[in-house]
Amino acid sequence: MSEQLDSAAYYHIAYRRHRIMNPLDDNRFLAIAGQCDLGSQSRVLDIGSGNGWPALLLMREWGCHCTQVDVSAQWTEQASALFEEAGLSALTDIHTMDARQFDIGEAEYDLALCLGTAPVYGGFADALDVFARAVSHDGFVIIGEPSARLPLPKRYAQYLQMLQWEIHGERQLMNIIDKKGFELLWNLRSTRDEWDRYMGMQWKAVSDFARAHPGDEAAHEFLDWVRDEQEVYLRYQRHWLDWNVMLLRAV
Ligand SMILES: C[S@@+](CC[C@H](N)C(=O)[O-])C[C@H]1O[C@@H](n2cnc3c(N)ncnc32)[C@H](O)[C@@H]1O
Repeated sequence: MSEQLDSAAYYHIAYRRHRIMNPLDDNRFLAIAGQCDLGSQSRVLDIGSGNGWPALLLMREWGCHCTQVDVSAQWTEQASALFEEAGLSALTDIHTMDARQFDIGEAEYDLALCLGTAPVYGGFADALDVFARAVSHDGFVIIGEPSARLPLPKRYAQYLQMLQWEIHGERQLMNIIDKKGFELLWNLRSTRDEWDRYMGMQWKAVSDFARAHPGDEAAHEFLDWVRDEQEVYLRYQRHWLDWNVMLLRAV
């Protein structure tokens, strides 16, 4: 497996067909966000906001204001176009930058979203420190984080180690939540179908891209990566990893 893969370029292709860019369906995301008492006065912060789909769902449903931060201009431009088309541009401000440089202020938000982007801050525990500052008293955090069904098969554990991908067990996540001064209110675990769909959309997008660019060396490297990923996914990830979207509130 190539360790030189340009993962940003890969994900720009692999996520081209996604709406929400994580393995949770829109309706389930709306169900968890529906617990946050959002309204037209609410302010939401989305870190690693991707193509803007989660914010679009919230703005459409509750008319809240969404601040979005993503390092990739490809995604922020796509998000701008999406909001423009939906007539929602006035409800958002979009920042194309590394989230670590973004000034989150103090207690300015009613809800902070971190869907698959805790590694930006160094991991789950460090991200909770940031969000503890970002949200107001009584504010909420919705954080998406994988968990492992421990103990993992040795080969899979070695693979994750090679990628420097630290995945906690569910119990460890709960300990961190307690230690960081949050209470866990909801935890939606993605179903097998949601996982399969999320992965399949990546594989198909990469395959479509390689077919459309037959002479492109990178496209073929991405296809090789997909084949490796498929094996890891079908042998291990699908059985040993859960995707959790958790609703937290500071104690
Ligand atoms: C898996 S996608 C998730 C997108 C979105 N949260 C969702 O669930 O639909 C991860 C996003 O994090 C962004 N990202 C990665 N590193 C970042 C950083 N240092 N600062 C801001 N965004 C970052 C990527 O560009 C990508 O859009």
